[in-house]
Amino acid sequence: APAELRELLLSRITDVPDYPQPGVMFKDITPLLADARAFGALTDAFADLCERYHADKVVGLEARGFILAAPVAVRAGIGFVPVRKAGKLPGATLGQSYDLEYGTAEVEIHADALAPGDRVLVIDDVLATGGTADASLQLVRRAGAEVAGLAVLLELGFLAGRQRLEPGLKGAPLEAL
Ligand code: PRP
Repeated sequence: APAELRELLLSRITDVPDYPQPGVMFKDITPLLADARAFGALTDAFADLCERYHADKVVGLEARGFILAAPVAVRAGIGFVPVRKAGKLPGATLGQSYDLEYGTAEVEIHADALAPGDRVLVIDDVLATGGTADASLQLVRRAGAEVAGLAVLLELGFLAGRQRLEPGLKGAPLEAL
């Protein structure tokens, strides 16, 4: 992203030490959401990526990814599809589990939410270890669509999510604003 946008976005993300556990520095995006100029600029930047990568669907990842991706879909004039934590979607689903530091987690998508030929931009707030995003890319493909790209507000580079995602991206772009 251009330096000016980066500065604006970073200035509206707050560090919260020892949340949700001791030793973790939580990145709180609620100040950004509460600032119409910053949230608007972020939405525009994501919508520009939809155009650049010819996306015709936006997939948002629960929960903060929903907040960011929904206005992008409206702005870009394309549909929104949720990827949710297991057990939350009412229809027939596809599920994908992934490894956490301790244990596993699972995300789901409606099996009929995407169609062959759909090009999907996947949006989330933070890329940390990359587990959530990697599982979501797999779901998009298993649902029959193509991954046009993955876009996040913030990438925590020291957790090496980008490296973990490289095989799963299969050449699709990863943009961190
Ligand atoms: C956070 C964040 C990403 C994910 C990144 O969500 O919003 O979705 O973790 O972590 P990863 O790259 O290591 O997978 P969280 O699981 O806290 O869910 P929530 O937004 O529903 O609270």
